[in-house]
This record gives sequence, structure tokens and C-alpha cells, in this order.
Amino acid sequence: MLGIAGAEAEEDQHVAQSTLMREAYFVDFAVAMQEKVNIPLMVIGGFRRRDVMEQAINSGGADLIGLGRPMCVVTDAPAQLLAGLDELPRFENQLSLFPTWLAFLGRVQALRGAAAFAVQFWFYAQLDNLGRDGHINKNLSVLAATRQVMLQQKNWLAARR
Ligand SMILES: Cc1cc2nc3c(=O)[nH]c(=O)nc-3n(C[C@H](O)[C@H](O)[C@H](O)COP(=O)(O)O)c2cc1C
Repeated sequence: MLGIAGAEAEEDQHVAQSTLMREAYFVDFAVAMQEKVNIPLMVIGGFRRRDVMEQAINSGGADLIGLGRPMCVVTDAPAQLLAGLDELPRFENQLSLFPTWLAFLGRVQALRGAAAFAVQFWFYAQLDNLGRDGHINKNLSVLAATRQVMLQQKNWLAARR
């Protein structure tokens, strides 16, 4: 769902090697769905380049483009793209739970799953920060973000009891 390399076995996309749309990993699924439904389809997952989004729309693969992780940080991403920005940042490629010297831990399947969640928590924490004081914190570590989100979840659960 998040396009994390190595998280699980990968299926080949049934789209041409040449198409720009390969960065958006649900496009072939959307193209297949377009044949079965007659409602507008929003496709999400991996879109970062404006030309890829344009190709997905123009080719009929998508009626609407969804943006997930970029929007947690670049909250005016659509406006920036429409104003001519070529590409949104790929924060997920720079984020890791493990420091470089512990990167080998990412080869352990169970830890890889936990590390993928931790990176996702970094995006949750940005939304949390935005909700609190309107600011994101790009320098937040994945570990600190994980602590922040887990503490918050614990507090929510306690408040519900
Ligand atoms: C903060 C956040 C919360 C999300 N919550 C859900 C969810 O509740 N259900 C779901 O199916 N996908 C959820 N997703 C996954 C997104 O729908 C999307 O599939 C994923 O982020 C890949 O798109 P992207 O490359 O634009 O981030 C979430 C993503 C983010 C960043």
C-alpha cells in the first residue's frame, strides 16, 4: 500500500516499462477498474511528479490524483503543482528508523515491518504537529515520531476507558 521496497513480495505492474506512470503503483489496478465502473476514480500511491500525474489523467487511468504522504508536509502541494512545481519531495526515501550503522537490522523481516510502521508514524506525527500549532517539523527523527504517536495513542485509549 505504501510502495516500500522489500516489505513484501512485489507484483509486476501490467503497464509498459516506458510509461512514466510506473512510479504510481496502483495505476494498472485503476486502469482495470475503469473498465468495470462508471464513477470517477481517484488513484493514490506513489505520485510525486507532475508529468506522471498528467499522464495518468490524460491516459484515462485516473480521474483524480490522490496525494498522501507529501500532503502531510507540503500542505499546499496541489497549489504548488498547479503553479508549475515539477516534483514533490519523497520524504519516505530519506526516513529510516535505524541509523546508518544499524541499517543491517532492516534485513530482518519482523524488524522491517516495524521500521515501515515507524516511518509511517513520522507522517502521522507531522499531522499531529500541524493540528497542534500549525507547523511541521522536518527534523523530527523517526524514533521521536514513533514515541510521540504511540504516547498519543496510549493517552487516547486511556481517555476512552
Ligand atoms: C497519514 C496517513 C494516513 C493513512 N491512512 C490510511 C487509512 O486509514 N486507510 C488506507 O487505506 N490508507 C491510508 N493511508 C495510505 C494512503 O491512502 C496511500 O495509499 C499511501 O499513503 C500511498 O500514497 P502516497 O504515496 O501518496 O503517500 C494513509 C496514509 C497516510 C500518509
